[in-house]
Amino acid sequence: MIILYDDRLIKREEANIDIEDRAYQFGDGIYEVIRVYHGIPFYLNEHLERFQKSADAIRLSLPYPMETLAQKLLDLARENQLEEGNLYLQLSRGTSPRSHAFPSDAKPLIIGYTQPDSRPLTALQNGVTAITDEDIRWLRCDIKSLNLLGAVLAKQKAVDHGAKEAILVRNGTVTEGSSTNIFMVKGQTLWTHPANHFILHGITRKITLQLAEYLGISVKLEPFSPSHLAEADEVFLTSTTMEVCPIVQIDGKAVGNGKPGPITRQLQKAFEKEIE
Ligand code: PDD
Repeated sequence: MIILYDDRLIKREEANIDIEDRAYQFGDGIYEVIRVYHGIPFYLNEHLERFQKSADAIRLSLPYPMETLAQKLLDLARENQLEEGNLYLQLSRGTSPRSHAFPSDAKPLIIGYTQPDSRPLTALQNGVTAITDEDIRWLRCDIKSLNLLGAVLAKQKAVDHGAKEAILVRNGTVTEGSSTNIFMVKGQTLWTHPANHFILHGITRKITLQLAEYLGISVKLEPFSPSHLAEADEVFLTSTTMEVCPIVQIDGKAVGNGKPGPITRQLQKAFEKEIE
């Protein structure tokens, strides 16, 4: 496999990550996961804009211009002949003797690699199950930070319960999933948490909201409670890898009639058109 290491495309075996890399020791860095359909990165510019925003938020500078990075990612996908899958991109603050404050001598390190992966067709068709869990993450969930322990623990709890996703609840409101954004439908209205510091501003969330507007579906960008969620007619999650995916059961209880609902189906169809 060919990977991106700093500004070079090299073989994976040739990469050398230092034991004092700050991403490794502190989770001091940021990342993106970009979907590739038909060999083409999907919404690449939006992902790179978010990458830049995350970098700015943790006072980290990219080691070379964004235009160069965009080209390197296209080269990476081509070199690996990636038709369908994911591009993973990460920026670390670099390597320096271990000490919490920013080092003056470290050079930020970009790495990127590809993972072939097909679309989750069974989940998209039948829906998935979820549990609810307390949102114990920090207060800057809008930054796509490498510190993912809160997400890792929540996702593992879901897996332990035989579920696909953990829907996180903070101070009586549903924020998002451990690695997805959460939407619910009540009546004819679509609800999702507003894009503030309690959630990641998902690219798929944004595309879904644009599709909803285009389809004339009314949208409320307002927090809602777990009891509202329990009474929803439809619930779905969105993410780069899961697209628009129905949730048919939460905490062992069926959502609506236990089958993916009509508004979810409408949005899935519209999303599919985007990736054709
Ligand atoms: N997860 N919320 C969280 C906490 C996420 O980690 C993600 C993405 C999303 C959805 O964002 P987007 O639509 O831009 O993928 C929401 C990625 C895929 C991951 O960590 O693997």
